[in-house]
Amino acid sequence: MDQIEGVFNGSFELVENIKISPFSRAYTFSDSIYEVVPFYNSKAIAFDMHIKRLLRSSNELSIALDIEQVSKEITQLISSCSSENGYVYYQVTRGQDIIRAHIYSKLMDIETFGYVLPFSFKTKTLKVMICEDIRWGRCDIKSTSLLGNVMQMNSAQKQDCDEVIMHKENILTEAGASNLFFVKNGTVCTPGLSKNILPGITRALLIKEIKKMNIPLIEGNFDLTDLSNASSAWLSSSTKGLAPITDIVNLENILDTQEPIYLKCKEAFDYKFFS
Ligand code: PDD
Repeated sequence: MDQIEGVFNGSFELVENIKISPFSRAYTFSDSIYEVVPFYNSKAIAFDMHIKRLLRSSNELSIALDIEQVSKEITQLISSCSSENGYVYYQVTRGQDIIRAHIYSKLMDIETFGYVLPFSFKTKTLKVMICEDIRWGRCDIKSTSLLGNVMQMNSAQKQDCDEVIMHKENILTEAGASNLFFVKNGTVCTPGLSKNILPGITRALLIKEIKKMNIPLIEGNFDLTDLSNASSAWLSSSTKGLAPITDIVNLENILDTQEPIYLKCKEAFDYKFFS
């Protein structure tokens, strides 16, 4: 494994030298939250938005976080990276708990862990599978409890797919590790924010660009029929950027990766964040 720069409880070291207790509640309960902060030309994309979302996630779990310290550590990881382009993974865990009690002690010291990786933000086209959203009821919290996403994405991979699009009782939610957009009758559609989806930073940045261009946009409830009538569809995330979907294997569809509204969105987004 290449050497990966990391930080654990405020100490910077190579990831291979970091020792984590098996009693960490990240390990036993998934009692932890995280962020993925992308950077391009050595500058974080939407740094403040990522920090604000991390703070929101920690507040939802009543984990007291020194956000100034976290911001400094993420900034330092970015400057220590061997590449100008990449991302920082940063996780905050409630702490170590030897009794393994569901009801946690308020006296625990939180654990923080981050690392930085070089990454090239090349556009990838995606083949996806529709599946049921089997996740918990607070997907708006960026928690490390991702087993539902992991199970569904791995069953999609068996069908040669890169991602999934999930629905709860026919209402579209999001993808396994990204948000969903599609164009129907000349309007960009994306599931509205709720407890069932992560408020994606890339989603928010793109929506701002779409509004600036006066392209019609609806954030709301959409179902599988809406998606099968789409002329183009794409997923958004900090690491994927905007990734066009070529095919949805288990839904009738006619998706076009050269559809003009998608191309406009893609061009505006890439110009703003990757040039
Ligand atoms: N995933 N929805 C889910 C379930 C996600 O895991 C992600 C991001 C998004 C998009 O959020 P953002 O635009 O803020 O990256 C939506 C990250 C990249 C990950 O877990 O690796």
